[in-house]
Amino acid sequence: MKLRVAVVYGGRSGEHEVSVRSARAIIDGLDRDKYEVLEYFIDKQGKWSPRPMLPEPDAQPEIDVVFPVLHGTFGEDGTMQGLLELAGLAYVGAGVLGSAVSMDKEMTKRVCMERMLPVVDFVALPRGTANVVEACAALPFPVFVKPANLGSSVGISKAHNARELEAAFALAAEYDRKVIVERGIVGRELECAVLGNEAPAASLPCEILPSREFYDYDDKYTLDLAEAQVPANLPPQTTAELRRLAVECYRAVECEGMARVDFLLEASTGKLYINEINTIPGFTSISMYPKMWEHSGLPFPALLDRLIDLALDRQRQRKATRFTR
Ligand SMILES: Nc1ncnc2c1ncn2[C@@H]1O[C@H](COP(=O)(O)OP(=O)(O)O)[C@@H](O)[C@H]1O
Ligand SMILES: [Mg+2]
Repeated sequence: MKLRVAVVYGGRSGEHEVSVRSARAIIDGLDRDKYEVLEYFIDKQGKWSPRPMLPEPDAQPEIDVVFPVLHGTFGEDGTMQGLLELAGLAYVGAGVLGSAVSMDKEMTKRVCMERMLPVVDFVALPRGTANVVEACAALPFPVFVKPANLGSSVGISKAHNARELEAAFALAAEYDRKVIVERGIVGRELECAVLGNEAPAASLPCEILPSREFYDYDDKYTLDLAEAQVPANLPPQTTAELRRLAVECYRAVECEGMARVDFLLEASTGKLYINEINTIPGFTSISMYPKMWEHSGLPFPALLDRLIDLALDRQRQRKATRFTR
């Protein structure tokens, strides 16, 4: 019998359109000899069609495994994973904790710091902070200002002076109650794909070559000008170090299934910094996560098989866990 895979996509997020494109690629990529695909679309208001997913155990006997293809808020941040846990369904990717920690740029950094993993200097400030410029005095310009819990560069600006910092903070604070201000790194942007549960593996890394001042929303999705090099042209020891850090970061945030770990390589020092971890990375035809695996010897349909196996594996383990005495 074919495995019935529910692909959940769209969503109440600034990355709704990207999710639709990622889901399309996954739906097309799933081997129909092995899988039957059920689509669950969530519109921008959060309305499900053709049917909602219910939180009660065994409420969806028609589903064997869920593939959440939702980027950003209400999908990649642990909320959808919480619903799927309540429903007792097997699902692809990180669980509630790993998703929530990875979505929050401050928590990711703190968890990494606890394990001595390199992250850039930053300050986290609540919306409504009175003197932002003073609070960031320890960080040299330019700085990057970001909503703590978002993706696709939405609400992110590079600030070159105090006036720009004030404006950047006000913009980021529209998108989140917590804002991160980081030291800007001059250098290269690298990404690494990680796959696995207890024994995660890292792919060959890639390099992103933004066409603009930084890798912003337009560069990621609309202009199609940013270029990527797979595998990244790096000295072997830098590649090895990057892959090691990607796995360490993945373990630190307690990720499962998959994630893309993004790095900054500082030109002046040669130092690698973990920038962020994305638990539901883009899966569109031009996305880096599947591309990196393809270059590492794992073609797209096989990658999807592997992700589904990992989801079922975790489900089996959960079923062997006692929840009462
Ligand atoms: N500290 C930094 N130094 C240099 N560039 C940065 C820094 N932080 C972010 N950027 C640039 O901004 C882009 C988006 O930031 P990122 O933290 O990856 O947010 P998102 O979750 O929206 O992808 C990065 O891809 C990079 O081009
Ligand atoms: Mg990013």
